Amino acid sequence: MIAKALEWVGGVDGFLELVDQRLLPGEFSTLQCRDAAQLYEAIRTLAVRGAPAIGVCAAYGLVLGMRNLKSGDGIEQALQTLSESREYLASSRPTAVNLFWALDRVRGKAEEFVGEKADAGIAALCEFILAEAHAICREDVEMCLRIGLNGERFVKQGSCILTHCNAGALATAGQGTALSPMFEAHKKERKFKVYADETRPLLQGARLTAWELQQAGIDATVICDNMAGWLMKQGKIDAVITGADRIAANGDTANKIGTYSLSILAREHNIPFYIAAPSSTFDMSIKSGAEIPIEQRPGDEVRSFAGMQTAPDGVDVYNPAFDVTDARDITAIITERGVIENPNIGNVAEHLRASPA
Ligand code: MRU
Repeated sequence: MIAKALEWVGGVDGFLELVDQRLLPGEFSTLQCRDAAQLYEAIRTLAVRGAPAIGVCAAYGLVLGMRNLKSGDGIEQALQTLSESREYLASSRPTAVNLFWALDRVRGKAEEFVGEKADAGIAALCEFILAEAHAICREDVEMCLRIGLNGERFVKQGSCILTHCNAGALATAGQGTALSPMFEAHKKERKFKVYADETRPLLQGARLTAWELQQAGIDATVICDNMAGWLMKQGKIDAVITGADRIAANGDTANKIGTYSLSILAREHNIPFYIAAPSSTFDMSIKSGAEIPIEQRPGDEVRSFAGMQTAPDGVDVYNPAFDVTDARDITAIITERGVIENPNIGNVAEHLRASPA
């Protein structure tokens, strides 16, 4: 069984239902977002997380944002409210570009819709926004599947794959990015093993990836983050596959903190290092990873562990949520369109220009 992280329930007056990922794996429960503020909190506190999932949710968040309209408001006010909701939701987390991509796509198309249909009322505009959010959601499901089909050949019979954080179904609307090639290889009855980095401080690898792999019946072993190098040294890792939060025009890739260290370890041990991500994760407006904003999270995430204090009160903490892996250390980026080998400024642009496979 592959989990479903999010679902819009009902019509334009409906709500967004999310698996509360803060509680997994101990408790599987869902939460319902009925206004933009609830969704903002869900994103900020990582009840829903993972770049594509955040993007899809934010698109639905613009439907929720329209609930701030008052009776008697006109279409100009509706567009103003849409813009305000865009700004508000965009401020929930800074690194995953899918958030901004989805918000800007919905707002841009909604503005075009109003421009073309001068007599469009607010009800029609809200229906249009919901339809566009549904389209983004459907496309994400399709992109995840295609990433799996394009990447399953890297999950070889008898191999051991290392992954970091969670880039599975919980991080998308579909079957994930980094885990999608594994799900496809599993469907083909290939035997392989996955090592899931625990992923301190919030344990997305141990809590979410291990849970998803177990649900799917894939052989999974959790390791602490500091064990990866030793496994590589012993020849226990054949490939690394992770997701991405933002990929710059030259292929530099932001992903969960710890990914950069893995790329250096993989290079040192001559192990292929793959990134799996949809085209919505590319940010062609920035030349390199140096321009990617890195989210800084609260120090208490590091000062404590599972509710227990693990560092002295008041001690300084540095807690960046992401790091950037240099394109030169990425063997290939797997997208829904195909595979970019040795990514660089030229072949990334060419790949995104070409029509989807
Ligand atoms: O802080 P998170 O849990 O949102 O970080 C998620 C990651 O880093 C994922 O690897 C990335 O978003 C890709 S998800 C398909």
